[in-house]
Amino acid sequence: MTRQVAILISGGGSNMVALVRSMQEAGHPARPVLVLSNEPEAGGLARAAELGVPTAAIDHRSFGGERAAFEAKVGRALEAAGAEIVCLAGFMRILTPGFIARWEGRILNIHPSLLPKYPGLHTHARALAAGDAEAGCTVHIVTADLDSGPILGQGRVPVLAGDMPETLAGRVLVMEHRLYPIVLRRFAEGLTEPVFLS
Ligand code: GRF
Repeated sequence: MTRQVAILISGGGSNMVALVRSMQEAGHPARPVLVLSNEPEAGGLARAAELGVPTAAIDHRSFGGERAAFEAKVGRALEAAGAEIVCLAGFMRILTPGFIARWEGRILNIHPSLLPKYPGLHTHARALAAGDAEAGCTVHIVTADLDSGPILGQGRVPVLAGDMPETLAGRVLVMEHRLYPIVLRRFAEGLTEPVFLS
């Protein structure tokens, strides 16, 4: 039975594009039913529409700082679309434990570091400052603890001499676009054994 997937974005949505294109392959166990952005100007909304996926924009600034009110509207949009799995893909809002509990175990996120190293922001600068020989990305199940849920997959890339945060980010992003579709396909089939790419 095809699982219905909603993807939450805030910006360009390159991971969203990779996920949608993957789900459009024959025999895929999931299909995209909604791409939703908290940023009405997100470039990913137009890219999703070009790919034939319904879109929605819910500006988080329209709720007077009331995070719960914003999330209630997001939740209604997800339910109206029939979403069963929610993929965060460059989504830059922190979700409250109440929202996460509602979707317990069915929200995935991609984070641009080899968790548990470097939760939070500026992951590439931190890896470079630490002199790490490798970096990468992690797909995990979202829990109330930021960037800390069960890991479903990781992709490793080398840190190269002369790397700047931007060059490392670009190399990691290519790996993200490989990893996330593989993990989502497995997750839609009920497979949660973590996969490791390099
Ligand atoms: C990427 O660094 C990704 O790791 C993080 O958000 C950034 C932008 O992702 N989740 P995208 O291009 O919008 O998918």
